[in-house]
Formats: sequence, structure tokens, C-alpha cells
Amino acid sequence: MNGIVPKEIAKKKKILIVGSGGREHALAWKIAQSPLCAELFVAPGNAGTFQWNIPIKTNDIPGLIKFVKERAIDLTIVGPEEPLSMGIVDSFQAEGLKIFGPSREAAQLESSKAFAKNIMEEAKVPTAEYCTFTEIGKAREYIGKEGAPIVIKADGLAAGKGVIVANLFDEAVEGIEKVMGGAFGSAGDQVVIEEYLEGQEVSLLCFCDGKMAVPMVAVQDHKRALNGDLGLNTGGMGTYSPPSFWTKKLEEEIIDTIALPTLKVMDQRGTPFTGVLFLGLMITAQGPKLLEYNVRFGDPETQVVMTLLKSDLVPILEACVEGSLSTTQAEWFEDTAICVVMAAPGYPGSYEKGITISLPVIEKETQVIFHAGTELVNEKFLSSGGRVLGVTVRENSLASAREDAYRIISKIDFPEAHYRTDIGMKGL
Ligand code: AMP
Ligand code: GLY
Repeated sequence: MNGIVPKEIAKKKKILIVGSGGREHALAWKIAQSPLCAELFVAPGNAGTFQWNIPIKTNDIPGLIKFVKERAIDLTIVGPEEPLSMGIVDSFQAEGLKIFGPSREAAQLESSKAFAKNIMEEAKVPTAEYCTFTEIGKAREYIGKEGAPIVIKADGLAAGKGVIVANLFDEAVEGIEKVMGGAFGSAGDQVVIEEYLEGQEVSLLCFCDGKMAVPMVAVQDHKRALNGDLGLNTGGMGTYSPPSFWTKKLEEEIIDTIALPTLKVMDQRGTPFTGVLFLGLMITAQGPKLLEYNVRFGDPETQVVMTLLKSDLVPILEACVEGSLSTTQAEWFEDTAICVVMAAPGYPGSYEKGITISLPVIEKETQVIFHAGTELVNEKFLSSGGRVLGVTVRENSLASAREDAYRIISKIDFPEAHYRTDIGMKGL
């Protein structure tokens, strides 16, 4: 015997996922299937993850650290941006605890649009032309000069609602007044005003270990509340993967011109990026341009990404943390996946909670109803958030995946729900 422990009996891990959305249910669903997972916990989770839930809030960093130490958790995975921008990764590392996600400094790629734009400039990443302002008068003047359509962005985190795409000059001026007038709190003290880009929007999430970026499957999100991309912006009403226009060549171009130069600049600044670098892209007539970075798994991108991931997720996440991504591989099913979000009536505005939902039994392993804003009360599922469920299907064609997803929806007893009926139509 050579003394090397075969991979099959490598030490099994105790894993904690931080978050409570559809993204976290999808991560938990995938990790629970891993032969490397000994025990799983989700803090605080939702009704879909109830068997793994522990009642600790996502931004209670001391509470999470205490739990991780007491239970000797081997790896913590952070879902949402808020604890990342609060520095959860730095706090864990200071205690010698293993955690998947970027440091607080690196998380500014998402938490500050102005910071992100600076990095894009330093890394020579193709993106929209822009200017930043802290004075409303100067911002107004700039819009007067540039005209519409134009895009106004609150600098800080605004739950995906701090972006106004203004088609008309008056809308742009109103947008500035809203953002800088305090509608998004201090997130709007600084605004980024940028060139309007036209094209196909796509999300490319990459596993990163500080130096290397391994792309996941590309995803198209549907951000507007209503069919035909109408209505208000939301966190995302549905996703499908891969988009019809996606090619290996496009992926390589994005990795070479956007992902890797970004990692290089972050590394050179002494703040290497580890975790998921989520590129929000516009594929324009002039090629791919970066709209924004996120520093985490997307929601509802993750629901389709996890159903398409053939490899075990756990070794990939560990390799990101350990800086050894070149030694692992991510293999994908050559299928199509779709996720249709069912939201509470009123979402993304104020919405009702506590609606009783009943779900059909699903037997196929390629079909999953991921929970988001749900809770389990007296053995009943109740809605507790804006986006409530993400009906997700993997199939060999987009048409059949769509059909199956909407068939499942017709069997879900949640008549008040609102959902788009055109998810994935762009890809047909
Ligand atoms: P963001 O939060 O930066 O992703 O912006 C939200 C949404 O606004 C994006 O998903 C796009 O649909 C749209 N958007 C953002 N920036 C631009 C831009 N420069 N040109 C056109 N649309 C944009
Ligand atoms: N679905 C977009 C996001 O996660 O930000």
C-alpha cells in the first residue's frame, strides 16, 4: 500500500450554507448528493431545506462563527451578497475557518458600482462608457449633454432595484432625483451614469480561486416582472440555460477579456478574488461588454446551473478556497434547464405573506421545485417572501423543459401566484 488515501474515502465534510433563498435550496440539493458531504446545515434556510435548517440569520456573523466552531464545520458557503459585503469571509479566516466566498475588499466588485467601474477600467474590460457623480447638478448637466437612452445606477447595494434604464430625457432626470434624493438610502449618495447598451443579456458565473476562472454554463435571466420583458425590475423571474446564441468561442472571449483580467487586477491589488465571480453581460454588435459584477451565485441562475452540473460541487468549492482549481474539473450535462419563478401577488412591490401552498409529488430527479420565500408551519408550506418557488426542469430540449415546467406549475396549488409564461421563449 502506498499510503495515499483513495478519493472515495477522503474525509467526509460537514458543510454549512448561509442563506435562505432558492439559490441556497439549489446549492443544498446539489451538495446533499455529494458522497463527500457528511452533514449539511443551512442558516437559516427555508421550507425546502427544513431538514438542514438552523435558526441563525445570514448576517449574524458571530452567531455563525460560534456554530461552526461548536459543530466543527469543515466548509461554509455563503449565498447572499450582504454578509459578504459585511466581511463574513475575513471574520471566518481570522478564526482559521474555511469559507467559500470573496473577502470584504473583493466583494466591493458588487457592493460599489463605482469601485467595479474602476476595476473594469484598470483591467481594460469592455464595458459601457460612464461617469460618476456625487452632486445632483453635475449629474443633470451630464444627462443634458449625453441625452437618452441612458442608464442611472445607485452606487451601493439596492437589492437589484437601484438601476434605472431611462428611455427618455425626463425619465433620466426623474431617475437622478429619485436615486440621489434618498430612495435607496446611502446607496444613492453616489451615482454612476452610463451609456445604454443594446444586445442580448447573459449571466456567466465563474468559479474562482484567486488566479483561475472556470466558467459555469451560461444563463439568461428574465429580470422584468411581466411577460415580454415589461414591468418593474425584479431579482429575476426565471432563467434558462444555455442561451441559443451561446458558443464556446464567445465563452473563451469573455474569460480572456473580462474574467481573467479582472482576477489579475484584484490579485495585483493584494485582494485576490475567490468564490463565484458572476459576470452580467450584454452581447452587443461590438462583442461582449460587462454590465456588472456580482460576487456570489445568482438567483435564479443557480437553480439551472446546479441541475446542469454533472460533477460533484464540493471538490470544486474546496479547490476555489485552496487555490487549486487547476486540479479539478467541472463537467456539465449537455441538456437544457429552465427555472420558472412563482412570486407572491404584488412582487416586486409590497406583497402578501402567509399564503398556504400545496405541492405535487415529483418523482423525476431532473425536476425540482426549489423553495425560496417559504416556511413550514404546522406541516404546511406558507409563503414568506416575494419570490416563493422556482420550478426547475432539466431536459434534452428547451421546448420539452418548458412544457414540463409549466405542467408542474399547473399542479401547484398556489392560485394567487404570479409568474411569467414566457420564460425561455427567447431561446426557442
Ligand atoms: P444591473 O443591476 O447593473 O445588472 O442592472 C439591472 C439591469 O439593467 C440589467 O440586467 C440590464 O437589463 C439593465 N442595464 C444595466 N446597465 C445597462 C446598460 N448600460 N445598458 C442597457 N441596459 C442596462
Ligand atoms: N438574478 C440576478 C442576481 O442574482 O443578481
